[in-house]
Amino acid sequence: MNTLFNLDLLVRENVKALKPYSSARDEYVSSGEQMVFLDANENPFENGLNRYPDPHQRNLKQLISEVKQVEASQILVGNGSDEVLDLIFRAFCEPGKDNIITLPPTYGMYKVLSGINNIENREVLLTDKFQPNVDEILAATDENTKLLFLCTPNNPTGNSFDFEAIERLLFEFPGLVVVDEAYIDFAINGSWSFRLNDFPNLIVTQTLSKAFAMAGIRLGLCFASEEIVAVLKKIKPPYNVNELTQQKAFEALENYETVKEQVQTLLKERKRLSEAIATIPYIETIYDSDANFILIKVDDANKRYNQLLEKGIVIRNRSTQPLCENTLRLTIGTIEENDKLISTLKAL
Ligand SMILES: Cc1ncc(COP(=O)(O)O)c(C=O)c1O
Repeated sequence: MNTLFNLDLLVRENVKALKPYSSARDEYVSSGEQMVFLDANENPFENGLNRYPDPHQRNLKQLISEVKQVEASQILVGNGSDEVLDLIFRAFCEPGKDNIITLPPTYGMYKVLSGINNIENREVLLTDKFQPNVDEILAATDENTKLLFLCTPNNPTGNSFDFEAIERLLFEFPGLVVVDEAYIDFAINGSWSFRLNDFPNLIVTQTLSKAFAMAGIRLGLCFASEEIVAVLKKIKPPYNVNELTQQKAFEALENYETVKEQVQTLLKERKRLSEAIATIPYIETIYDSDANFILIKVDDANKRYNQLLEKGIVIRNRSTQPLCENTLRLTIGTIEENDKLISTLKAL
């Protein structure tokens, strides 16, 4: 238990006082009886989508709960995990006053969201092994520090953060610890969502955009205590996850076996790609990855990036990120795509 933690002190005053919008579907919850719905100014002509979606996404959350082994009451879903991250900022960070801590090199949206929400972003670099520097993180906090973002496996470095470092931060960090697990389905370690009941200051985010092959529908998951979920629910737009997304997400979660098979293929491909490019002279380092991409250090990232572009292959140049000079991020593709990447890299 984190003895410094007090949720009440972290929630913004205006959010505490807020009376959330009450939608037609909040005021009358269908009990399964045939009713005549004339309450939401919908068009009555049926086409499968003429009704508003369930604002509480009950069926979807039930299935997420079974697949991810988290209580339904501890789940919030959003329009991508980017929406979930934005809700977290807006619920807990007072613009112009509060601060958050991020650990570059990491996922760029935390910084963008801090800018949008006018929240100071205190950056504490990862160590040279791309691990959180726990002492420096704790030293960077003050009474206005609300959030810490731990991206594990980390984008763009690909590695998972050490268990002990995360646990110590969960025990000692004075605000909420957001563990972004967008790539968890590719990782050896299990999810921190299994520790929700140990850490009331823990928020875990995941997404259907990566392993579940559903980036197009935009579905982000958030796992946290019921109290935190209640705060986030208060400020989320009533129908933030549309009907089509709820249906497609449900199907994807029902096909979890297919997801697991695809993940296994991608993990084999990750190993094959790493081994195949290991002897290329201009590749100086291939970093260990726990995700569906590999970060590599090359002699000249701009040059290699442009050469690949000319050959019709688009990768990500991560060189502007701290500790990532001359690095390129390679997403694992299909077997054929990886074959093309390997032969092209070898021929440069
Ligand atoms: C670490 C990390 N978190 C979150 C996201 C955003 O995910 P979503 O598609 O659910 O918004 C990404 C997308 O690349 C990511 O890399």
